[in-house]
Parts: sequence; structure tokens; C-alpha cells
Amino acid sequence: MSLHGKTAFVTGAGSGIGQATAMAFAQAGAWVLLVDRDESALAGALAALRQGGGQGATMVCDVRQGDAVRAAVACAVQQRGALDCAVNAAGVEGASKTLLDEDEALFEQVMDINLRGVWHCLRAQIGQMLSQRAGGAIVNIASAAGLVGSRRCAAYSASKHGVLGLTRSAALQYGGQRVRINAVCPAGVSTDMARRIVSSAGQDMAGGGRNYPLGRYSTPQEIASGALWLCSEGAASTTGAVLSMDCGFTAA
Ligand SMILES: NC(=O)c1ccc[n+]([C@@H]2O[C@H](COP(=O)([O-])OP(=O)(O)OC[C@H]3O[C@@H](n4cnc5c(N)ncnc54)[C@H](O)[C@@H]3O)[C@@H](O)[C@H]2O)c1
Repeated sequence: MSLHGKTAFVTGAGSGIGQATAMAFAQAGAWVLLVDRDESALAGALAALRQGGGQGATMVCDVRQGDAVRAAVACAVQQRGALDCAVNAAGVEGASKTLLDEDEALFEQVMDINLRGVWHCLRAQIGQMLSQRAGGAIVNIASAAGLVGSRRCAAYSASKHGVLGLTRSAALQYGGQRVRINAVCPAGVSTDMARRIVSSAGQDMAGGGRNYPLGRYSTPQEIASGALWLCSEGAASTTGAVLSMDCGFTAA
């Protein structure tokens, strides 16, 4: 799954799945622009990536802002001349509340980051790839909560269902220009986000995923390997796909 000589763009790269993806892409030979709104997390992620022999740079960017996302894509192109692949992992978990307890501020925050953010990223990334006339590959990190409902946060589930709609629609619209757009749907993954969710429920990570068929959460590296495959030549005939990587959570 070589990405040798490719330029990659990863959002949410300061932590968790995004960070593991940036690392996996760099180890596969890509130059990676690590994008996140958290500057100090980005600095740590870039240092770790370079320590592992990878190459890349960082760009502070809030994916809610279309101008900032376009500037981040322009930054990658300015440094490398082209954009070949992108993974959109920036997201927030919302809050563990039933629908009647969710307020508009929570709904707007979750939709703004998880759905509008991916919409901004797709538009900037696809626009750049079309201008290069050489195709490209994009992976959106959705969620098992984009396939089934959530007992924890309806707004989060709705935002991730929306990400799948964006993924499939973009795949239909730009497949003819060889831009492939796919999604990965994890259930629990051992990241800071999962730790926050589990601790807000008064539980600990050790029992996370106990009820899944495989009896555990995924690791961020496992999700990164799915994103890497989807951006590789091995997935050249795959677009509009929704890849469940959820330790069997949605198999039932
Ligand atoms: N961890 C899980 O159990 C799990 C399960 C399914 C899906 N996901 C999805 O995977 C993605 C990554 O989650 P994670 O577990 O790595 O979370 P995380 O909290 O560890 O990392 C998320 C990163 O996104 C960044 N971010 C948040 N809002 C941003 C914004 N507006 N602009 C730019 N960056 C922003 C954060 O600063 C952070 O570095 C999310 O989209 C999440 O919904 C996670």
C-alpha cells in the first residue's frame, strides 16, 4: 500500500484516528499536511511523525471555516504542487443526552464540525483534484452511528448519516473525473474521544467494546490502515463505499 511520492491532507491530525492516519500515510511514503484546530496537538503529532522518519508539515485550521479549509489545501499545493489524497477525521462527539435534552447549541456545534466541516473539506479537496486532472482519493471518517441510531447522541448520529450522504453523492458526481470518495465507519476506537465518552458515563476504557463480537474497541492504527487502503492503488475500483471497521458492532 505504497503512497510513495504522494501528497496527503489529514484533518483531525492532532489526535486519535487522524494522528494515526497521518503517521500511517507518512510511513507509506506520502508527504502529509497535518490539519487541526489544536496547534499544540499538531506540533506533537508532527514531531512524532518526523521521529518515525516521515515527512510533512502542519496547518492550524478550523474545518467549520470554508476560507480556512481552502487556505489549508492551498498550503499543501504550494509546498508540493499537487494534492493526491485526503482523510477527513476532524470531529466531535457531542454529548451523551437524549433528543429532548439536546439543545440547539449542541446540535449546531455537532453539525457544524462533523457535517459542514466535511462538506467544506470535500469541496476544497475535490476542486483542487479536478484542477489537476489526475484524479485523487478521499476518505471521510464517519461512524457506526452513521449506519444505525445512537442511544447516546442523536445529533452525532444524524451528522454521521449526513457524512455518508455527502460521501456517496460526491462519489457519484466525481467518479467520472477519477476522484474516488469513500467512508470508514468505526464503532468504539481507543482515542481521547472514546475516553471522554466512556468517562462521562462513569465507566473505564478497559471494558470498552466488551459487547462487540470481537469483544474490544478498534485501535486508531486499525482505522488508519483502512483509510490507507482506500487511498491506495489497491482500491482503484472502489468509490462510494462505506467500510465498517467496528469489531462487528453493526453485524447484528
Ligand atoms: N473514537 C471513536 O470511538 C470514534 C468512533 C467512530 C467515529 N469516530 C470519528 O473519528 C473521527 C476522529 O475521532 P477521534 O476518536 O480520533 O477523536 P479525537 O478527539 O481523539 O480527535 C479529533 C481531532 O479533531 C480535532 N478537531 C475537532 N474539531 C475540529 C475543528 N472544528 N477543526 C479542526 N479540527 C478539529 C480535534 O482538535 C482533535 O485533534 C471523528 O470524526 C469521530 O467522530 C470516532
